[in-house]
Amino acid sequence: MPDKPSYIGLLNAISLGESEAECYLDAWAAVTPDDAVRSVISTVALREGEHGKAFAKRLCELGYGVLPREGGDAQSKMDIACSTTLSDKEKFEKLGVGRTVAERAGDNDVFVNMFKDTTVDIQTGALLGRYVAEERDSGRMLAGCYAELCRRGNGDSGAMSATVTAGLEARLGRVEALLEQICEKVSAHNRRIAVRRARPAPARRTCQSARPLPARGTSRISSGRPAIRPPSSLPTSFMMSLVPCTPSAASSVYSS
Ligand SMILES: [Fe+2]
Repeated sequence: MPDKPSYIGLLNAISLGESEAECYLDAWAAVTPDDAVRSVISTVALREGEHGKAFAKRLCELGYGVLPREGGDAQSKMDIACSTTLSDKEKFEKLGVGRTVAERAGDNDVFVNMFKDTTVDIQTGALLGRYVAEERDSGRMLAGCYAELCRRGNGDSGAMSATVTAGLEARLGRVEALLEQICEKVSAHNRRIAVRRARPAPARRTCQSARPLPARGTSRISSGRPAIRPPSSLPTSFMMSLVPCTPSAASSVYSS
């Protein structure tokens, strides 16, 4: 008969512990009023139950059965889980399932020693690896759930406080008032523009050159006032400024 593997006791302990956890977590999920908590607890309970059976199956494959253990605190855990007077947060604390990743690391990591046995066969090693990975993930889920309950317990419900809401509403009111003022100013401006456009266009000032040109040699300013003749010494630019502005008038000037 081959020697008994050194890790049979470990597999037995895991199978018992996981099956026990499935029972009290299921009981907890059945009474919690919180859907989010129930979701997490039910998920972990399923994993625990599957682990309990997977290790029982491995023991069976190795030629052993699950041996129940004497004593233990299974009943007290079940009482806590079934309680309808304890809060979910209190259950996390009493059952010790809400520890953070940091709290479960280092010397508190119960899984590290499982891999110190160098005689573990491949199939059992693979099962242990999957089990540890899922246990750590379950630990993270439970820690997250507990942290959320603690946050709510501190009055942080995740919703905005009444003070913050009132402040935001006041700001929104000011923004709306400013928008109304802007809209009124824009409307008034548009009305002014419409009125201005509706007015008949003022008669355009006619260019002096549009009037009949005086006869050559006479001043255009001949309405009883003396003619002003620019001195010939004035600069050309000034002289050009006196040129009539209509094409016909201009041509008459340039042709003269
Ligand atoms: Fe577990």
